[in-house]
Amino acid sequence: MVDNSNKYLLQVHELKVTYFPANGDPVRALDGVSLDICSGEVVGILGESGCGKSTLASALLKMLPPQAKCEDGSILFRGRDLLSLPERDLRAIRGQEISLIPQDPALALNPVMTAGSQVSEVLRSHLPLNTQQRRQGVLDLLREVGFNEPQEIYSTYPHQLSGGQRQRIAIAQAVACRPALLIADEATSELDVSLQAEIVTLLSQIRRQHGTAILAISHDPVFFAGFADRMAVMYAGRIVEVASTDVIFGRPLHPYTQALVRIATSSVVTGAAKSARLPVIDGETPNPTSLPVGCRFEPRCCERMDVCSRRYPPEFMPAPLANVNCFKYGEHVD
Ligand SMILES: Nc1ncnc2c1ncn2[C@@H]1O[C@H](COP(=O)(O)OP(=O)(O)OP(=O)(O)O)[C@@H](O)[C@H]1O
Ligand code: SF4
Ligand SMILES: [Mg+2]
Repeated sequence: MVDNSNKYLLQVHELKVTYFPANGDPVRALDGVSLDICSGEVVGILGESGCGKSTLASALLKMLPPQAKCEDGSILFRGRDLLSLPERDLRAIRGQEISLIPQDPALALNPVMTAGSQVSEVLRSHLPLNTQQRRQGVLDLLREVGFNEPQEIYSTYPHQLSGGQRQRIAIAQAVACRPALLIADEATSELDVSLQAEIVTLLSQIRRQHGTAILAISHDPVFFAGFADRMAVMYAGRIVEVASTDVIFGRPLHPYTQALVRIATSSVVTGAAKSARLPVIDGETPNPTSLPVGCRFEPRCCERMDVCSRRYPPEFMPAPLANVNCFKYGEHVD
């Protein structure tokens, strides 16, 4: 048997995460998510609000809130299962080998610490540097993420920075220890279009210079164009399609992916104003507290068949390296 375990940096298998709110029914946020990432690869996670993107990001770092429970599955990073590692080992991995650019850097940054000391803090926790080396390291990082006057930015407080500048500080923190895997959760959703392009260019540059693998999360397909190698499309807690970015844009397979790409690319072509919460597809996502047994996209799908509401579609591979969970690609009849 061929051993593929060295090929992948990260292997997520059948991950299931449920939130147990104090008041209310359990929410199955991830329901059997499987995904592999190779070293230096950029993989995009695409899906509407609430499909489980941030839950996946937190689960990968074992940083879920206390009311969430990882109920099943495995997360292998360089062959080690993160779910069974003791907290001490995980602390060494977080920030140093896997790091996160959080969805809202304004909330993640400490308002009473200067930007420079917050980046310095990351270096202090992971690397044996003296004060002077640390300060120089921070200045180099600030320059690397695009600040021409790093000394000035060093002593600035988060509230004195723009949204784009705060995002760059969060990126400096995340790349400080040259992680092998960077998770960027909606790294540009709060920024205007030109700043979004600058951040994507910066992330691509980091990947090129340091061979960093990036798991990039967005609700907007356009964010991944020219940036991600592959994309995984999530719907209601499951991945419904994984394919190269070229396939996702050129010949998307799943009806949900087709709708997302059609809406996003037509709004770019027509120059329609981009809202922060693009795109919108008619109909609603299923209630996460009582998910249907069949295809979760069925109520919104124009191509649904009888079988679609009866059972969950298995994975088909209609094109090389393109996997899709949709009955259109096989087994139409029960
Ligand atoms: N702390 C929580 N308690 C209960 N349910 C939660 C909690 N956090 C998230 N959820 C639920 O889990 C599901 C997935 O949420 P998650 O934040 O991962 O989605 P997302 O894809 O990141 O959305 P967005 O694009 O809005 O950031 C949603 O149904 C959400 O309501
Ligand atoms: S399985 Fe059926 S309902 Fe689901 S996306 Fe495919 S055709 Fe549509
Ligand atoms: Mg999110």
